[in-house]
Amino acid sequence: MAKSGVKTAIIASTTLLTPTLRRFVLRAQGWCFPVLSAGSHVLLGFGGPERMFKNAYSIVSRKDDGSEIVIIVRRAPQSRGGSVFLHEQGREGLSVTILGTANLFPIMRRARRHVLLSAGIGITPFLAYLETLRAGGMDYVLHHFCRPEEREAFESLLHGQDSACVHIHDQLPGAAGLREQLANQPITTHVYYCGPEGFMDWVAGAVRAVGFVPGKVHSEHFFVPEGGQPFAVVLARSGRTVNVGADETLLEALEAADLNPPCMCRGGACGACAVTVLDGQPDHRDHVLTEAERTAATTILTCVSRAKTQTLTLDL
Ligand code: FES
Repeated sequence: MAKSGVKTAIIASTTLLTPTLRRFVLRAQGWCFPVLSAGSHVLLGFGGPERMFKNAYSIVSRKDDGSEIVIIVRRAPQSRGGSVFLHEQGREGLSVTILGTANLFPIMRRARRHVLLSAGIGITPFLAYLETLRAGGMDYVLHHFCRPEEREAFESLLHGQDSACVHIHDQLPGAAGLREQLANQPITTHVYYCGPEGFMDWVAGAVRAVGFVPGKVHSEHFFVPEGGQPFAVVLARSGRTVNVGADETLLEALEAADLNPPCMCRGGACGACAVTVLDGQPDHRDHVLTEAERTAATTILTCVSRAKTQTLTLDL
């Protein structure tokens, strides 16, 4: 651990799994990763003199002695730069900061059956799930969807898993096929899904159509915040104005202004970055606020949401 109390780790090894997926082993420096339940993610700080990044990644596994964790990073075409940096400059020995760990996507222990649906990089939380479900003798099935050219890489990642419970598909079934599968599950089933936005919408539609109760449906979004029109935020407590550029998030602009707003997932999924809006209209892009909260327009999640008005006044 660095003298300041900041937790650091180095990249102990890295392996290219496919042209867009890279595996990293992160080794703690002078401290241990805490025991982490399946579905946890880590918030990493990394970068160089030109730009620092803070990105959250699912933890695939933790070494028993807490010295190492494994993550898999997808090189996102619409990346804000973090995943590209790790793919291009994330070599062995590179130091990263561990800003926190959390589990926003835990296994529901009360469920009698667990149906896991993933696509592409969405497999990562489920790699941890599979170990827990198998070790606990729980009833589960995973359907993973990928591009045909990536099938071999996912077969390798899932090698050794119970073939009766783990299935890889290199094309999506028809919507009706998915609905039929979900409709035939016992009433005590919980459904978990994770993957790119189109896949998420597709599964969400099927789950709704079948009538699954929301409490039995769990999802984790890998959401890369998109840019938009620049806008300004007025910080009511200090009177300062912070400009948010077209290619940065409100959270990044606040950080660049040396404010240290809370955050965790940085993808609109946890609510940790919520700030009260005193004036102006937020452009909500998160997966947390209810419709009523969106309409009230009194809260904004700074990691993904932007402004419909030229200025927002925040209680900061
Ligand atoms: S940090 Fe999780 S919703 Fe913004």
